[in-house]
Amino acid sequence: MKFLVINGPNLNLLGIREPDIYGKEDYAALTELIRQTCQSEQIDVEIWQSNHEGAIVDKIQQCYGQKDGLIINPAAYTHTSVAIPDAIKAVGLPAVEVHISDISTREAFRAHSYTSAACIATLKGEGLAGYAHAIRLLKAHLLHS
Ligand code: DQA
Repeated sequence: MKFLVINGPNLNLLGIREPDIYGKEDYAALTELIRQTCQSEQIDVEIWQSNHEGAIVDKIQQCYGQKDGLIINPAAYTHTSVAIPDAIKAVGLPAVEVHISDISTREAFRAHSYTSAACIATLKGEGLAGYAHAIRLLKAHLLHS
């Protein structure tokens, strides 16, 4: 099974960025958690981060025929981008959306996700552990579909 994990803008600054909201662990700790989870689940994983919407669309398109599923934290693009969910739908791959914080209990503009309509599940407010949950959920979905 081959997964791609995409992290959107400013997630490379984990640990520095608003630690009260996103925690004190840095991006390297997140990639380590993802790698360890995928290793124990026998999943081949690529982890990729970008601050640019078009680059994220290009990366999703490149998954066609190459990956079995996607895990995506579109970060701020969650609330603004139509192109990202369109790209997920275009490649037809199952995707799980993850948010470190609980976007439903923060500012009103964060409550709506354009991405969620293109995903099989949206996980929010579980901290970095949400990525491990997403990996297991996506694997179970692929095994049972
Ligand atoms: C986020 C929530 C978004 O609203 C925010 O813009 C982010 C991170 C999260 O992981 O909690 O950059 O996606």
